[in-house]
Amino acid sequence: MIDLVPTGTHAAPSTARNRQPILDVLRPRLPPVARVLEVASGAGEHAMFVAEALPGVTWQPTDRDGEALVSIAAWRAASGLVNIAAPLRLDAADPASWPAGPFEAVVCINMIHISPWAATQGLMAGAARVLTPGGRLILYGPYLEAGVDTAAGNLSFNESLKSRDPAWGLRDLADVTALAAAHGLTFAERIAMPANNLMVLFEKG
Ligand SMILES: C[S@@+](CC[C@H](N)C(=O)[O-])C[C@H]1O[C@@H](n2cnc3c(N)ncnc32)[C@H](O)[C@@H]1O
Repeated sequence: MIDLVPTGTHAAPSTARNRQPILDVLRPRLPPVARVLEVASGAGEHAMFVAEALPGVTWQPTDRDGEALVSIAAWRAASGLVNIAAPLRLDAADPASWPAGPFEAVVCINMIHISPWAATQGLMAGAARVLTPGGRLILYGPYLEAGVDTAAGNLSFNESLKSRDPAWGLRDLADVTALAAAHGLTFAERIAMPANNLMVLFEKG
């Protein structure tokens, strides 16, 4: 376990809280040997935590942001883990920035609501391109859902996101699911997570 925050890295308090629940969902749902592409890795903490816990998984961290890539590289160097690849610059909305794959899974944690809808469109198109048949797109974050009361905390989070950028905001899960389906990614599972988040899984046919 990497306890200290290495120089050049960032550490988010939310990651300390959600990384174990996310790992608990991933562990039984990833093949024992799997290539995983993470879109929007941020500081890289999830990448380290999962790669350390699942040695059969080869984890490819990415982000659009240069500072995030520096942080991921520093975490990776400090960890000494051999199953985490050097970070790549990937803008979900730019197909040219995606690696060719193939990957058994694409994981995206907390990006869909903190980016314009074009990023989610690019995520779905990209996942459909790079996933193996039967491969899974695995999302984590807060959503709006018809027939489900939105938690007060998520409503105020939504308002604060929109005030930072009108193109950001919590997405309706039905819109995300419809977009996935349009790319041949079939809804497979919805898992309630702590703090009113969801993990949502889609499978490539
Ligand atoms: C809230 S952070 C989440 C980081 C990390 N997944 C986590 O949960 O700790 C959102 C991340 O999305 C990245 N991001 C935003 N738009 C993106 C895009 N179009 N393509 C790839 N990454 C993007 C940002 O650079 C940032 O690192």
